[in-house]
Amino acid sequence: MTETQVDHVFTPIRLPCGKEAHNRLLKASMYEHAANFQGGPPNAAHMGMYKNWGQGQWGLILTGNVQVDRSHLTIGRDMVIPDLLNESTLRPFRDLAEAIHGGPDGAVDPPNRALAVMQVSHSGRQSANWVSGRFPWNPPLAPSSVRVGARESGFFPQLFYRLLFSTPKEMSTSEIDHVVDRFVLGAKVAHQAGFEGVELHAGHGYLLSQFISEKSNRRTDEYGEKLHLLRRIATETRRNTPKDFILGVKLNSADFVDRKASSSSDEKVLQHVRDIVSWELFDFLEITGGDYENPEFMTSVSKRQAFFSQFSRKVHECLPGGPNTPLIALTGGFRTYATINTALSSGHAELIGVGRLSIHDPHAPLRLKSEGRDYVPPPAPDYTISIWDQLFDFLGWFTGVKVPVLMGAGREMCWYTVQLEKVAGFAPIDYGVSGFGAILRSIGGVKIRSTSCHTILSWSSCALFAVILSWVGLIGVWDAMGRFTSSGYLGWDQPL
Ligand SMILES: Cc1cc2nc3c(=O)[nH]c(=O)nc-3n(C[C@H](O)[C@H](O)[C@H](O)COP(=O)(O)O)c2cc1C
Repeated sequence: MTETQVDHVFTPIRLPCGKEAHNRLLKASMYEHAANFQGGPPNAAHMGMYKNWGQGQWGLILTGNVQVDRSHLTIGRDMVIPDLLNESTLRPFRDLAEAIHGGPDGAVDPPNRALAVMQVSHSGRQSANWVSGRFPWNPPLAPSSVRVGARESGFFPQLFYRLLFSTPKEMSTSEIDHVVDRFVLGAKVAHQAGFEGVELHAGHGYLLSQFISEKSNRRTDEYGEKLHLLRRIATETRRNTPKDFILGVKLNSADFVDRKASSSSDEKVLQHVRDIVSWELFDFLEITGGDYENPEFMTSVSKRQAFFSQFSRKVHECLPGGPNTPLIALTGGFRTYATINTALSSGHAELIGVGRLSIHDPHAPLRLKSEGRDYVPPPAPDYTISIWDQLFDFLGWFTGVKVPVLMGAGREMCWYTVQLEKVAGFAPIDYGVSGFGAILRSIGGVKIRSTSCHTILSWSSCALFAVILSWVGLIGVWDAMGRFTSSGYLGWDQPL
């Protein structure tokens, strides 16, 4: 490997606030599914994971989303910002920052230490009914009363989304003020615990993204102006943290770009980005895509990469340049030295976010540095190794009903959260875990491997699955005969 080949990936870069990342590799935010059920502080499992990543020589390490509101969790085991700021509530967050910095034993030299950035988030209407930290009959808060999946047509997708998500309550001004205070408290916790910065999660369909997106924000007050809440939170965060505190934001390209790419939608996109950049509040903008209705951040690597990098290139073209211009971080599908280096050298981004590869290989930067273009990423998993996964896929085919993409993304997400236990234990990941086994393990807490499919547990799961399959098949036939929909019995197919 020659010097020029490593130039872009391993050149240090200064952020507008003055902090410097020693290379361009950012360990992307990934929900750990490791806190107490119903949310809590970071614990030993988090320490293990972040200590492992901390030794991998990443330029920046982002935590998984830390919820600012205990009653709006994602999948139930989120880290949560405490209500009170004192020594005992700060202690676990201090330990987490220390783990990212290489641990108390000084295992990582200061020049190779990652900048520690906490991602703060509120899931808004995407806080699922059963694991949200609320009673299921309490609706989640959102900019407008528009349910996740409201635009889906068809009985099964509707049933699926209805079971998972309630129609949200439109937030009052005082509820919005409270959310602003909680984000600011999140930044204070991060700062006092020793993190170098925070990233506001305004992607993947969570609350801040809901305010930005036309499909979920139908307000007519000042918050109907799509960027108003984001600006308020960013301004208040800056006001309450030191000048050299990193402030980033994760944005959803899908909120901005119309795939049909009419020039008017492009112009809207660029105007939004220009506005955000002109505030001079952010150190970096991380570009991603998708939400729970369209989870592209987890699927279709090649299409997604092309889409995001096209967006990122457009963003770059409208940046003014200069010391206060935020850096662009591009996340999604990066696995090889060549793609990372190309994205950097073609000017699509200044930082590259790496998610799933960092689970396969927590020390990827070390290996990319020593192996360069010869780096061979670990193989991607095959989720369909168990009989349940094949049945799962068969379900979609048999009923002739489009199983929502979210289920596929959910299976992949569960698989990776199960593997995070391996990252915490500094152990190699386990390719023997099936997608369906990962769902049981991750949601039900049941440990199951494809090789154990002859156990009683496996067969009872199979039987249960067969019952569900027959039930779903029966309803599918009924649905196809038009009994429900034509009579309007369920009334879920009506447009908003
Ligand atoms: C298990 C898992 C959990 C994730 N949790 C988060 C999260 O908490 N916040 C976030 O912004 N993105 C989250 N993501 C998305 C990743 O940050 C990243 O955008 C996505 O995985 C695409 O990057 P990749 O192709 O490098 O994996 C998660 C992804 C995975 C696989």
